[in-house]
Amino acid sequence: MLKGKKILIGITASIAAYKSAVLVRLLKKAGADVKVIMTPASLDFISSLTLSTLSKNPVLSALFDNETWSNHVSLGRWADVMLIAPLSCNSLAKMANGNCDNLLMAVYLSATCPVVVAPAMDEDMWMHPSTQENLLKIKSYGNHLIPVEHGELASGLIGPGRMAEPENIIDWLKNYFEEGLQLKGKNVLITAGPTYEPIDAVRFIGNHSSGKMGIALAVECKRRGANVTLVCGPTAISIPTNISLIKVTTAAEMYNACTDNFDKMDIAIMSAAVADYSIATPAANKIKKASDDLDIHLTKTKDILKSLGEKKGSHQIVVGFALETDHEKENALSKLHSKHADFIVLNSLNDAGAGFGLDTNKVAIFDKSGREFTFDMKSKKEVAFDIINTILNHSYA
Ligand code: CTP
Repeated sequence: MLKGKKILIGITASIAAYKSAVLVRLLKKAGADVKVIMTPASLDFISSLTLSTLSKNPVLSALFDNETWSNHVSLGRWADVMLIAPLSCNSLAKMANGNCDNLLMAVYLSATCPVVVAPAMDEDMWMHPSTQENLLKIKSYGNHLIPVEHGELASGLIGPGRMAEPENIIDWLKNYFEEGLQLKGKNVLITAGPTYEPIDAVRFIGNHSSGKMGIALAVECKRRGANVTLVCGPTAISIPTNISLIKVTTAAEMYNACTDNFDKMDIAIMSAAVADYSIATPAANKIKKASDDLDIHLTKTKDILKSLGEKKGSHQIVVGFALETDHEKENALSKLHSKHADFIVLNSLNDAGAGFGLDTNKVAIFDKSGREFTFDMKSKKEVAFDIINTILNHSYA
């Protein structure tokens, strides 16, 4: 799984840097191509000669060497993954704040590849609220975390903070690359965001959906190797360029984009907050406020999820969302069955931290055989991971 993979290792100033030699050795043994960048302070903990010998590549540490500029952009583009191990408390804080005072930070900030960190620090530093906040921050930027291990620390204390053992880091990487193949060759259709239904030339009926959950799902499916088509209503969130984007505004446009593309799809996930009603003939001009009352006649939109659920073939998986405020489970199950979905993802607006515009969500997933999978409050990126895992591990197609 690691054969031929290009791994860029970043080493920061921590006693655990001695384990980096073993890590590089194991990666090389597994057939990976390894390059190492060290922060200047980490050179006090392990020599660059050891790492250049083991990696069979020169070790870089300065932004400028003999008046030659080190091209940080090309390193982050070369790698399949950038692994910062060990990640010290200080370098974590720099990552959280975008500081760029050494080559490693410059490469991190310009890396286009996935970035994984394996922190290492003393228990009290690890538990400090600022460290925990910085971890949350770097995770919210899309970085991956290999959890610290519990055991004897450099201080002699026993507790959490040890860098994961090199063997465990290797297992994590293998699993990560395996996941990257799970949806290889599969076509996934995802809807995201709100729809806007015009009333007249300047007004519309919309909702507060930000599109964050659907975009996180698209990114997760892409990470697992799928060809992703994202049909997205108006959103301010940026969408990675490796995802095929179909921008739409109205429910009718979203319906057409989905039905036009559905036949070639293996999985369809409908996470958009689609308007249930629209104005059949919006006024061409701005409606003037002539009378005290204004009646607007609304007509039901077509239900995209239901229509895909009804026509799906036996090889296709259709997943819906249900956003509920009351009788949550009952309503979610009723949508699952009436819309012929394979899975329904329930989020309740009664859970603080779940819902429109937030970075977190709490979901329960139900499948058509009556199984229920529940999850804690998590970042939308982690929720996307749980949703795709559930679909892959429990689907019938
Ligand atoms: N949905 C859809 N097309 C619509 C309306 C909803 O595809 N015209 C999809 C949503 O993307 C979601 C699921 O149906 O996956 C449930 O949406 P939700 O708004 O929770 O339910 P509704 O069916 O609209 O019912 P209600 O608003 O009465 O709860």
